[in-house]
Amino acid sequence: SQAFSLAVIPGDGIGPEVVAEGVKVLKAATANEDATFELTEYKLGAEHWLATGETLPEDTLDKLRGHDAILFGAVGAAPGDTRIPSGIIEREMLLKLRFSLDHFVNLRPSKLFPGVPSPLANPGEVDFVVVREGTEGPYVGNGGALRVGTRHEIATEVSVNTAHGVERVVRDAFRRASARRKKLTLVHKHNVLVHAGHLWRRQVEAVGREFPEVAVDYLHVDAATIFMVTDPARFDVIVTDNLFGDIITDLAAAITGGIGLAASGNINMDRTAPSMFEPVHGSAPDIAGQQKADPTAAILSVALLLEHLGLDAAAARVQDAVEKDIAGRGTEPRTTSDIGDAIASLLAVG
Ligand code: NAD
Ligand code: IPM
Ligand code: MN
Repeated sequence: SQAFSLAVIPGDGIGPEVVAEGVKVLKAATANEDATFELTEYKLGAEHWLATGETLPEDTLDKLRGHDAILFGAVGAAPGDTRIPSGIIEREMLLKLRFSLDHFVNLRPSKLFPGVPSPLANPGEVDFVVVREGTEGPYVGNGGALRVGTRHEIATEVSVNTAHGVERVVRDAFRRASARRKKLTLVHKHNVLVHAGHLWRRQVEAVGREFPEVAVDYLHVDAATIFMVTDPARFDVIVTDNLFGDIITDLAAAITGGIGLAASGNINMDRTAPSMFEPVHGSAPDIAGQQKADPTAAILSVALLLEHLGLDAAAARVQDAVEKDIAGRGTEPRTTSDIGDAIASLLAVG
C-alpha cells in the first residue's frame, strides 16, 4: 500500500470552507484505494499574520518540503482591509511557496461541462488548458520605487524571463498538447514587450521542432481575450507568462461556469519538491463564513492532485462525480458542504 503525506493549507476567508470539502472528497475517492493519506494542517495566511506576524517561516517551508503534495485553499484579506498591507501575504507566503518549491507549471484547465451555463450565447465545445509559467515574469519582485509619495515617484516591476525558465514551461505545454488535440497557442505581447516576447517566440520555435505533430499558433494577449469570448473552442493548450496567465485564467473561468469551478495545480514537473493544488479563486471575503462558496474548484484541484500522485483512477472518479453533480444542478441554492456531501456520496455509490 502507498502512504502519502499531504500538507493542507486552508488559509483565509472561504479557503477553509472549500478545503474541508476537498478533503471530504479526497477521503471518499481513496477509501477503496490501496493508498493512505496522512494529513498535516498548516495555519498560514492573512489571519495567521495578524495573529503572529509570520508570513512563511523557513522552518515551516522546510516541513512543507517533506510532504508528497500540498492542498491549498486561498489566502488574502479583503481588498479594503487596512489591517494588513496588500501584497504581504500574496508575495511572502503564496508566491514564496510557488517560487521556493519551483512550481514552474501553473496548470489551469478550463472545460465547459455539460449542463453548466456559460455567459456566452454560443460557447461551443470549450476544453482547453492554460499552462501558465509560475516562477518568473513580472511576479518576481524585481523592481522598486523611488521618491515615494512625491510628484517625482518612479515605480518599476521588471519582468524576468530566462531561457531555462521559458524553455521548460514551453516543453511542458508541447507535451500536453501532443497528448491532447495537438494545438498550442503562445499568448504574449511581442509587438510591445520585445525582449521577453522574442525569447518566448524563439523557445516555442525551437522546442516545437521536437513536436512536429503539434500545430503552433500565436496570439497577442489582447486579441486572445477577444477569441476567448468569441471562439473559445479554438483553444487546446495555451502557454503564457505568469501575469498574462493570471488574467486570462479568470476570464477562462468566467466563460466556463464561473470562478467557483476553476481548478489549478502549481506543479514542479521535475519533482524536486512537492506540487501544490488550489482553486484559482481567492479568499472571497464578500461571501466568507456563510457557506456560500462553491467548493467544486477545490474538489477538482483534488482530482489534479490525485493524478499528480499517480492515482489516476481515483482522479477520474472525482472528475466523473463532479461532472454528474454539475449536470444535475438545479436552481436551488446549496451550501458549500451540501455540494461537498453530494459529490462525496456520488463517489461512495460509484
Ligand atoms: P476572489 O477570487 O477571492 O473573489 C472574486 C469574486 O469571485 C468574489 O465576488 C467572490 O465572492 C467570488 N468567488 C470566488 N470564489 C468563489 C467560490 N468558490 N464560489 C463562489 N464565488 C466565488 O478575488 P479577489 O476578491 O480579487 O481577492 C480576494 C483576496 O484573495 C485578495 O486578498 C487576493 O489577494 C486574494 N487572492 C488569493 C488567491 C489565492 O490564494 N490563490 C487567488 C486570488 C486572490
Ligand atoms: C491566483 C492569484 C495569485 C496570482 C495572487 C493572489 C498572488 O490571483 O492564484 O490566480 O496572481 O497568481
Ligand atoms: Mn488570479
